[in-house]
Amino acid sequence: MRPLRRSSGGLAALGCCLFLLPLLSRGADMPLGSTLSPGNSATWTSPNSTFSLGFTASASSPSLFVAAITYAGGVPVWSAGNGAAVDSGSSFRLSSNGDLQLVNGSGAVLWSSNTGGQNVSAAAVQETGNLVLKDKTGAALWQSFDHPTDTVVMSQNFTSGMNLTSGSYAFSVDRATGNLTLRWTGAGSTVTYFNRGYNTSFTGNKTLTAPTLTMQTNGIVSLTDGTLTSPAVVAYSSNYGESGDMMRFVRLDADGNFRAYSAARGSNAATEEWSAVADQCQVFGYCGSMGVCSYNGTSPVCGCPSLNFQLSDPSKPRAGCTRKLELASCPGNSTMLELDNTQFLTYPPEITTEQFFVGITACRLNCLSGGSCVASTALSDGSGLCFLKVSSFVSGYQSAALPSTSFVKVCSPPLPNPAPGSAAAPSAGGSGFRAWVVAVVVLGVVSALVLCEWALWWFLCRHSPKYGPASAQYALLEYASGAPVQFSYRELQRSTKGFKEKLGAGGFGAVYRGVLANRTVVAVKQLEGIEQGEKQFRMEVATISSTHHLNLVRLIGFCSEGRHRLLVYEFMKNGSLDAFLFGDAPPGGKMPWPTRFAVAVGTARGITYLHEECRDCIVHCDIKPENILLDEHFNAKVSDFGLAKLVNPKDHRHRTLTSVRGTRGYLAPEWLANLPITAKSDVYSYGMVLLETVSGRRNFDVSEETRGKKFSVWAYEEYERGNLAGIIDRRLPAEDLDMAQVERALQVSFWCIQEQPGQRPSMGKVVQMLDGVMELERPPPPKSSDSFFSTTTASGGNSSMVSTVASSAAPPVAPSTSPNLEQEMALGRSESARNRDRVTRQLLSPQPYMTM
Ligand SMILES: *[C@@H]1O[C@H](CO)[C@@H](O)[C@H](O)[C@H]1NC(C)=O
Ligand SMILES: *[C@@H]1O[C@H](CO)[C@@H](O)[C@H](O)[C@H]1NC(C)=O
Ligand SMILES: *[C@@H]1O[C@H](CO)[C@@H](O)[C@H](O)[C@H]1NC(C)=O
Ligand SMILES: *[C@@H]1O[C@H](CO)[C@@H](O)[C@H](O)[C@H]1NC(C)=O
Ligand SMILES: *[C@@H]1O[C@H](CO)[C@@H](O)[C@H](O)[C@H]1NC(C)=O
Ligand SMILES: *[C@@H]1O[C@H](CO)[C@@H](O)[C@H](O)[C@H]1NC(C)=O
Ligand SMILES: *[C@@H]1O[C@H](CO)[C@@H](O)[C@H](O)[C@H]1NC(C)=O
Ligand SMILES: *[C@@H]1O[C@H](CO)[C@@H](O)[C@H](O)[C@H]1NC(C)=O
Ligand SMILES: *[C@@H]1O[C@H](CO)[C@@H](O)[C@H](O)[C@H]1NC(C)=O
Ligand SMILES: *[C@@H]1O[C@H](CO)[C@@H](O)[C@H](O)[C@H]1NC(C)=O
Repeated sequence: MRPLRRSSGGLAALGCCLFLLPLLSRGADMPLGSTLSPGNSATWTSPNSTFSLGFTASASSPSLFVAAITYAGGVPVWSAGNGAAVDSGSSFRLSSNGDLQLVNGSGAVLWSSNTGGQNVSAAAVQETGNLVLKDKTGAALWQSFDHPTDTVVMSQNFTSGMNLTSGSYAFSVDRATGNLTLRWTGAGSTVTYFNRGYNTSFTGNKTLTAPTLTMQTNGIVSLTDGTLTSPAVVAYSSNYGESGDMMRFVRLDADGNFRAYSAARGSNAATEEWSAVADQCQVFGYCGSMGVCSYNGTSPVCGCPSLNFQLSDPSKPRAGCTRKLELASCPGNSTMLELDNTQFLTYPPEITTEQFFVGITACRLNCLSGGSCVASTALSDGSGLCFLKVSSFVSGYQSAALPSTSFVKVCSPPLPNPAPGSAAAPSAGGSGFRAWVVAVVVLGVVSALVLCEWALWWFLCRHSPKYGPASAQYALLEYASGAPVQFSYRELQRSTKGFKEKLGAGGFGAVYRGVLANRTVVAVKQLEGIEQGEKQFRMEVATISSTHHLNLVRLIGFCSEGRHRLLVYEFMKNGSLDAFLFGDAPPGGKMPWPTRFAVAVGTARGITYLHEECRDCIVHCDIKPENILLDEHFNAKVSDFGLAKLVNPKDHRHRTLTSVRGTRGYLAPEWLANLPITAKSDVYSYGMVLLETVSGRRNFDVSEETRGKKFSVWAYEEYERGNLAGIIDRRLPAEDLDMAQVERALQVSFWCIQEQPGQRPSMGKVVQMLDGVMELERPPPPKSSDSFFSTTTASGGNSSMVSTVASSAAPPVAPSTSPNLEQEMALGRSESARNRDRVTRQLLSPQPYMTM
């Protein structure tokens, strides 16, 4: 049965057509002159009514229409003029010359198939959804499948060179690689925001000829090409393989994403089965110009950067934002608005033209000073990249997970950022009530906390003699802040398990291992014989804990409770240097020369800091291998500094017997002579340690090998004879030794142990000498301290100290000393006569490690 041919346009014939067309056109070829219009419900329908072509209401306005092919139920798959909306007087017609046209009410052709005069004899909608213009033989001269709009249905071939378009967005398949590509076009530029190949293991490095994207009936999106033996899978729909009376298709949506859908017959809704861009906010321009995309839970929402902006169209958040005050209206008074966790999307080609390797501050300033720059993004993802945006169209993305900070140029002043997506403010009544509830809850919680704290304070402090110890939590907070933590005696008892694990016994008391509540391992020193009051003790603790250096052990905290005085230090994993120098058992002797030298230099640096660089300079007074600790990387850490002062609060240079804490062998001669103790006394002790570091023997050792002399005296004699090998630790393999370093270390040590303090170098010089920065002269022989009291003849130095002390009659006048020092020396002398004999006796007592 042939459809009625439209006559000259008589009303009767038209009315007849209106009545008959829905019935007559099904599955049939539409002859030349066939016309569709929005005013009637006529359609051109496929044989089994699966697809039909007709006017449907436009999504943008109910009074406008779109000529579209729809799937049974209403899902559109193709439209004339890619969704061009037309008025009710429009028509869609196959003109007598064979051209298919969309004509609006005023007769203007809005879209055409451009097939006029090509022997087209009929049009037909096929069961596949394809609209075909054919000639008399039935051959297709034109088909809608070759001119897709935004959708590709099953059995439709979407080949490279074709485009799907939707608003500013376009989709295509790259001819050479088969990559799926999504582009945004606007503001005079094209941005590729998605470009991805699929199953590269399959396509390899082959160059494709005409890759074709197909939605298979089983729901697999695949890519075929002449060079491929079988289709490559692009994506599986989430319901792939499921059968049923449904249609599958892929579509470039108006939001710029490319998705796979399925739609059941008769339904006007399609179900999303896959999307190419997983993160919708990554679609360039999704929120329009200056819009910022973020998520409210799961949905992407659009907002503006700050209150300097407003939505261009409050009813369409995706339309972007406009400035309340244009930059042109505030020349010279613009500033950069900072947006944390925000990125301005950056895709090719701009990614290669506007990127710089600068930090966050420069990224902000470069944009502020750049006339054409409107915004910038500094990435904090380790790439060090900064992007400057010169286009007026920028697309923002804000998420707590984004490691970047962005800036937007605005007119001063920058206003606060609104909560993302908060277009409508909550009602005043509602927020008022919420504020009230919050206030009550906060008040309640605070009161409860205050009560708890008071109870805790009472509980902890009723046992305390003085003001109570802070709670452990409070103490640990303090520890984190770097200030010395005050511990209670009980806490330290608990953390050391009742002072069980003894690490050693230093000059000022025993040291125990402890573990704090936060799992920090510490060394707890129980001070003995402290004569100071609470206040002075705290002052000294403050001084010690404010002394920070890589080569100094850090003080973590203290305890001052009743008669208990304890110090808590960081724990040093490798113990003290003496174990490595003199110990027999491993790790004794195992310390290789480079480590020894590094330890010696580190120690010198630590002491230099104490002497010369810190605020309240500290003379250590007890430098010996036992007080040089080693961390897990064998960094030298000097310990016990500042303690000499604790012992005698008034002036540590005024020694009473109980206050002399130095160790035999390391004590400078002036100690014994009751002469002023200066930084040079530490230099002497350090020189002994340095000699021991090279030799692995105690400086005061006496043996047959040393011909009955102290090792330090013997070592100098051997050095004079050029017998370095005899001095060096025999356990050190000769091939590991850096002989220049060894000789330097020996020379420095002999300079340090000079009897005359004035002849010893300062610690700063020692560091330079060891580093080889300073030329070294051959050291003169150091006098042994044994000869100190027996010899009255000074060794020709520039100081008369020795002789004056030895004679002990005249007041000591050292030419090189300051008036202050002289006074102190005089003070010291008043005691010296009384104490010297006792000191001497103590010194010669047989206890090897006695501290006095
Ligand atoms: C149309 O439907 C009938 C019955 O359901 C079926 O046999 C026929 O194959 C269908 N035709 C096409 C072209 O799909
Ligand atoms: C018809 O199309 C022309 C050209 O696009 C346009 O100027 C005119 O306003 C349209 N008329 C109607 C009624 O839409
Ligand atoms: C149309 O058909 C005629 C005769 O069959 C033929 O000569 C002519 O070339 C055709 N025109 C086109 C554009 O194919
Ligand atoms: C799609 O491509 C395949 C393979 O080249 C071909 O067999 C099929 O006919 C094509 N379909 C259409 C509608 O052109
Ligand atoms: C598809 O888009 C590209 C880039 O805009 C254009 O060069 C090309 O001509 C388009 N192809 C078709 C078939 O419209
Ligand atoms: C194709 O996509 C891959 C990622 O899947 C990308 O690495 C490659 O650069 C793309 N090819 C082209 C020509 O853009
Ligand atoms: C990629 O292609 C290879 C070769 O046909 C195939 O074995 C493999 O399953 C494909 N991988 C994916 C993820 O589709
Ligand atoms: C890439 O091409 C080269 C030569 O054309 C070939 O030898 C190589 O195996 C190919 N690599 C892959 C991964 O296909
Ligand atoms: C997120 O925004 C969407 C769209 O504006 C809205 O439909 C949805 O209810 C919002 N969800 C939440 C949790 O606010
Ligand atoms: C710049 O803006 C600030 C804030 O609005 C204003 O106080 C100031 O006067 C302006 N300066 C100039 C030079 O316009």
